[in-house]
Amino acid sequence: MRTVPSSPGVQVRVPAKVNLELQVGPLRDDGYHSLATVFHAVNLTDDVRVTPATHWGCVVNGPYAAAVPTGTDNLAVRAVQLLGERFGIEEMLQIDIDKHIPVAGGMAGGSADAAAALVAADALWSLGLTRADLMGIGAEIGSDVPFAITGGTALGSGRGEVLAPVLTQADFHWVFALQHEGLSTPKVYAECDRLRVGESVPAPEPSGALMSALRSGDVDELAPHLRNDLQDAAISLMPRLREVIDTGMEAGACGAVVCGSGPTVAFLCASHHLALDLMVTLSAGKVADDVVRAVGPAPGAHVVTDLHSV
Ligand code: C5P
Repeated sequence: MRTVPSSPGVQVRVPAKVNLELQVGPLRDDGYHSLATVFHAVNLTDDVRVTPATHWGCVVNGPYAAAVPTGTDNLAVRAVQLLGERFGIEEMLQIDIDKHIPVAGGMAGGSADAAAALVAADALWSLGLTRADLMGIGAEIGSDVPFAITGGTALGSGRGEVLAPVLTQADFHWVFALQHEGLSTPKVYAECDRLRVGESVPAPEPSGALMSALRSGDVDELAPHLRNDLQDAAISLMPRLREVIDTGMEAGACGAVVCGSGPTVAFLCASHHLALDLMVTLSAGKVADDVVRAVGPAPGAHVVTDLHSV
């Protein structure tokens, strides 16, 4: 067992993600689908702070706090407990989450908090783990956790946890139409299987056209290559998403795609100003419960305040 010096807390900021492409391949024997996906981190962020404590605790604040569990079903709690077990650390932690990423919205909100908690606990406990070490542990918590550690734009394969960075030339402007009601990721994958029953599903292959659009940084080139194989399943389970997409496209978005397993819809905009206009139109149209704007790519989980020095 390792003895850990008592110290104040560490705070980490972590981004939400949108999948610019999400190709869903066949169902694997382990219950996951093989994926070819392009993750893109955006500057809609959560902050997670870990502090040594006399018992385990988790407090969530912010607009989505009410929907977040605070026990061991919270992914951040699970992640740091797993990290502590792996390294024989018995110190207990207070985890404070300032939550701005929607819950069950397809933007990897829970996974982001797990990623942030791992990076924070690694710093607090002075473990000196590499990003690759943390991503390996994160993958045991959820398929999207490794990407929340790396951020930027990355190609994901396997079940989404095997990552390779993707070169992008520009900052992209996004507007996100959020719904209060979430969608369960396993249910959306199951609906995707149901809709494709009887079809032969090919192995997923990343799109070369999307990669070259990202390299060029041209929004108009990128927009037609946004693709999500879970989109039809998400719309099947929440039909109003079709109206959300149509409203945004009619209002001047360059492209639209459901985020991950939904129900958040991401709109790609040609400029900061057009993103502001789209926010106003979507809010006035009342097709979404909330509308937010963000820019990508954004950095992965990183320490913002190391209270050691305070
Ligand atoms: O890895 P994570 O816990 O985020 O996955 C949640 C659920 O989403 C899995 O239990 C599975 O039902 C589904 N999933 C999948 N294929 C993937 C990733 C997730 O079927 N590649």
